[in-house]
Amino acid sequence: MSPEILHHATVRSIEQVARDTYLICSVDEQVSCNARAGQFLEIKVPHCAEILWRRPFSIHNTQPQKHTFDILFQTIGQGTHRLAHLAPDSELDILGPLGNHFYYEREMREAIVVAGGLGIAPFMLMMRELAQRRIPMQLFYGVGSSDQFCCLPLFEKYATLHLSTIDGSLGHQGLVTDLLSDYLDRNSDNHGKSLFVCGPTPMLHKVKEIAACHTIAAQASVETVMACGFGACVGCAVPMTNPVAGQKEYFLACKDGPVFDMREIVIDD
Ligand SMILES: Cc1cc2nc3c(=O)[nH]c(=O)nc-3n(C[C@H](O)[C@H](O)[C@H](O)COP(=O)(O)OP(=O)(O)OC[C@H]3O[C@@H](n4cnc5c(N)ncnc54)[C@H](O)[C@@H]3O)c2cc1C
Ligand code: FES
Repeated sequence: MSPEILHHATVRSIEQVARDTYLICSVDEQVSCNARAGQFLEIKVPHCAEILWRRPFSIHNTQPQKHTFDILFQTIGQGTHRLAHLAPDSELDILGPLGNHFYYEREMREAIVVAGGLGIAPFMLMMRELAQRRIPMQLFYGVGSSDQFCCLPLFEKYATLHLSTIDGSLGHQGLVTDLLSDYLDRNSDNHGKSLFVCGPTPMLHKVKEIAACHTIAAQASVETVMACGFGACVGCAVPMTNPVAGQKEYFLACKDGPVFDMREIVIDD
């Protein structure tokens, strides 16, 4: 691990933006100016001796002119509940930016982004990067219920939104992958389209099928459970198919990923 990735960021603000979901804005020049969409940070939960391992979070957005960056997270267990109660001016011990980032084909003419739940987190930074390249974007975003959507007015500035909820409280009732299938079925010319996805495993599975059926290049950011975050513990192995030999191999989500080509990733049910 290189010492340049270890930082002490200062929390500037923390706000609840959706049900059980918080946005922390912190100050750190290096993260803010160097992060690329898809990369993540390993954050040490402060004042909590019983949580040994840092927790991984995608870099949601950056504001390089203010030297700040944002993390969007859902309260799941002890670590994230503690983070949600941080006070402004707290110090955050972070490692990063870690991992690889989304790759943009030179020939890309349209970006199709598919997010399930907190899988939305890496895509704000991506949309800012793609807006600078003037790439048209479609965002397919699905959650359980309407109070779980995050930052819709901002996403709407960058992309055409296709929303779904399981309970039907906003948008299509059902899975966001239904909307994706309909959209691609209606638009038969897939030349120059690229798919980017992050979300639960069954959604990745379905998007992989859809991308293969429509012959569209797709990249997935995987949220495998991690410990060290930089390749030392081998705790985040992801099965992949070697495209040449066709055999199964293992790659590390923290070091080789978290972004992988969907054709190669093996998604277990
Ligand atoms: C590369 C990467 C990026 C991530 N980005 C974000 C993000 O931007 N926003 C966000 O809210 N979350 C993100 N996650 C998931 C986040 O790291 C976990 O929710 C967090 O570590 C849970 O910590 P905890 O102490 O609250 O829960 P724990 O007490 O550690 O776990 C509570 C429960 O959640 C399960 N769990 C823990 N980690 C994960 C995981 N990675 N995937 C699925 N289930 C898990 C545990 O098995 C357990 O059942 C990311 C994960 C990875 C690997
Ligand atoms: S989390 Fe330790 S090797 Fe990936």
